[in-house]
Amino acid sequence: MRILIIGDVIGKPGVDYVRGRLKSLKKLYGADFCIVNGENAANGNGITREAADALIAAGVDVITLGNHAFDKPDAFEILSGDFPVIRPANYPAGTPGDGVILCDVGNHTVGVVNLLGRVNMECVDCPFRSADSVLAKLKGKANVVLVDFHADATSEKIAMGYYLDGRAAAVVGTHTHVQTADERVLGGGTAYITDIGMTGPVDSVLGVEKEIILERFLTQIHRRFELSENPVALSGVIITVDADTGKADAIERVNLS
Ligand SMILES: [Fe+2]
Ligand SMILES: [Fe+2]
Repeated sequence: MRILIIGDVIGKPGVDYVRGRLKSLKKLYGADFCIVNGENAANGNGITREAADALIAAGVDVITLGNHAFDKPDAFEILSGDFPVIRPANYPAGTPGDGVILCDVGNHTVGVVNLLGRVNMECVDCPFRSADSVLAKLKGKANVVLVDFHADATSEKIAMGYYLDGRAAAVVGTHTHVQTADERVLGGGTAYITDIGMTGPVDSVLGVEKEIILERFLTQIHRRFELSENPVALSGVIITVDADTGKADAIERVNLS
């Protein structure tokens, strides 16, 4: 089974890019299943119904979120409905939506899990213990488990990779918007990368107009963030999984401009 995972899609330019390229990209990589992180799909912060609909219509199977999950009110409708959209599983009990989803892919069932880091992030429940309880619930239900760990600290992400090694087919990091070059299959058969990067304007600071960020660093005066309108590139990974064992055979970075 081949799984394409695409990094944080930034605003309408990112959504339009996925809409225009996903079909051919899935064909090119022989992808059976596609996950996209959509936490920035609504003008940089959060997700709207329009963006979720566009990504799903483009061929995305599951949308994961992150620390911006609830930045737009549409998230409450999306997460309470039948959309294949999940938010981090370690938000406090009672938060709308779910942190895990089961999907049929051919004869197999794939479980997708979204978790949020705690270093430099919100005060959410422990992502490691939440991973334990989510994986316990998936036991016997999902042949293949894929984890989007949305976190800031490289140490926390690497630690999660080792923590879940042999228990998930993949642990991929999102949130920093900068792709790392440390992809590998860990000893227990888990495909791992610290960050898969973003799908947004390259000539920008993490998707935002660079002049705005520069001014902020130089003056400490906060200006409203505006997305860059420069050309978009896509970042992600393609993971090859043995669906019978639930272990990864390979992980390869994907970069498309
Ligand atoms: Fe993001
Ligand atoms: Fe984030």
